[in-house]
Amino acid sequence: MKKIIIAIDGFSSCGKSTMAKALARNIGYLYFDSGAMYRAVALYCMQNGLINDKKIDIETLRNRMKDIHITFEADPETKNSLTYLNGVNVEHEIRSLEVSQIVSQVAALDFVRSEMIDQQRAMGEQKGIVMDGRDIGTTVFPNAEMKVFVTASAEVRAQRRYDELIARGDDAKFQDILDNVLQRDHIDQTREVSPLKQADDAILLDNSDMTREEQMERLMEIFKNLTA
Ligand code: DC
Repeated sequence: MKKIIIAIDGFSSCGKSTMAKALARNIGYLYFDSGAMYRAVALYCMQNGLINDKKIDIETLRNRMKDIHITFEADPETKNSLTYLNGVNVEHEIRSLEVSQIVSQVAALDFVRSEMIDQQRAMGEQKGIVMDGRDIGTTVFPNAEMKVFVTASAEVRAQRRYDELIARGDDAKFQDILDNVLQRDHIDQTREVSPLKQADDAILLDNSDMTREEQMERLMEIFKNLTA
């Protein structure tokens, strides 16, 4: 069966990663989380004193880009993909609310995006990948054979994110999460470089009222039609 590239884009916290991971597992493809790469750059900024008053020291970051190496490795037990920043597993740290609060600023920088996009394209050279993000179907892989654009209401997304943070033991307030979701939507959609938008040839999937099983059925149906 021919291998294809699957691009899954959409709003933050609408379950893209969980969905993309499960799809990759079902069809034996490699999964790449492009948001994790922007999160790792944001974490680098936090760990290296490049954030002052919630603002990034852009010039220092520009000079440091060559020192930031992001890689993925499979967890030996769960087989889930783990994000490494300069050789250190940062999978947990990059999911904190602190990182979420600055990552959109980092992802709006053109020199960060061009570096990440080069790395993402290299990951897709062999095909047989599922990558999720915001601009995968529009900019990174405009010729991807399968493109899905995922959305859900802001309240549903904030509730899911809240449940996730509480489950991992973080102290979170629903209203803060909802504010963060809305703020990130705004920055992601209005930034100059690669703004979040549905590719003309992407299939829209609103999962506000869908179970994970229903969602997977729909994805498998799309995949089978494209590769049959
Ligand atoms: O999917 P996520 O919430 O982990 O993404 C983190 C941030 O990175 C989010 O603010 C949008 C940005 N991002 C992006 O600009 N382009 C991508 N391809 C993936 C994520």
